[in-house]
Amino acid sequence: MNLGYRILSLLADGRFHSGEELGTILGIGRSAVWKVVQSLEAYGVDIFAVRGKGYRLAAPLELLEPQRIVAALDAQAATLLRGIEVLREVDSTNHYLTEQAGQGAPDGYACFSEYQSLGRGRRGRTWVSPFGTNIYMSVLSRFDGAPEMLQGLSLAIGVAAVDALSSMGAGGIGLKWPNDLLWEGRKLGGILLETAGEFSGPWQVVTGIGINLGVPRTSARQIDQPWVDLRTIVQRDIGRNQVAGRLLQHTLTALEVFKRQGFIAFRRAWEARDVTRDRHVSLSTMAGVQQGIAQGVDDSGALILSVQGKPLRFMSGDLSLRIVA
Ligand code: BTN
Repeated sequence: MNLGYRILSLLADGRFHSGEELGTILGIGRSAVWKVVQSLEAYGVDIFAVRGKGYRLAAPLELLEPQRIVAALDAQAATLLRGIEVLREVDSTNHYLTEQAGQGAPDGYACFSEYQSLGRGRRGRTWVSPFGTNIYMSVLSRFDGAPEMLQGLSLAIGVAAVDALSSMGAGGIGLKWPNDLLWEGRKLGGILLETAGEFSGPWQVVTGIGINLGVPRTSARQIDQPWVDLRTIVQRDIGRNQVAGRLLQHTLTALEVFKRQGFIAFRRAWEARDVTRDRHVSLSTMAGVQQGIAQGVDDSGALILSVQGKPLRFMSGDLSLRIVA
């Protein structure tokens, strides 16, 4: 998307730019500009074309810059970060980082992308990933220990993500087990951990986080569940580099704390943000649907459901939880 990226960078200010102006800067004709703009539809951005005025984005874009993301980190997180990349486009930042891990990328390596063509969600779903508006981040880490502990890690990262966003003034964000970020019942973000390794460890973990920051209308149509974005919650423009930095900071710190103390260090915070506590829920498992009353989590991050008065414990795996009442 080289030409497309350059056009989007020029349109990022949210003002009108004529086809002639864009064409002159890029060294192409007006009709070539038009073709490139049309091809940008696939990237999920809202672009208006107005006769006599030119092209304009529905809203200005703040493109990601590694230096600005790093500048937003506190001193501790800055020492934990061992490398950062901002890609223009990629299939999935998780997939990319898994490949980089195979080529020796270190613990604490982070990657962001402006756009994902095959963003991955939990349970084989697609994560709708339009260009330049939301956050798609993956961080690499390696752990010793049993694979069961990784369930607690995905919950700990949920706590880190909520803390990061709350610290920027976004109140009322909760967690639905195992790690959906919800606001008023609508999905704000999600977490996908992808692991590789021998049973006895060490485990290579790619922690992927997607946050809806400002979802363009074109892309909103593709999201198949109730959703919300951060700009709607905070009711103001919120800088993407700042959000990316804050998210990275809390993630790196949480990975470090988890390595030393495990989920127990996050359990209380997770339960304080649990939106399902004492609610009637329905859990889809391999063995079928299990209904019960949600009773929080145990020290490993397993969900406790009270079923006919008896506590049952569920490991996250690829389960999905729904609030019934
Ligand atoms: C979910 O379904 O709730 C999890 C969504 C995780 C999306 C993020 S975006 C960055 C990283 N790369 C991916 O392909 N997926 C995760």
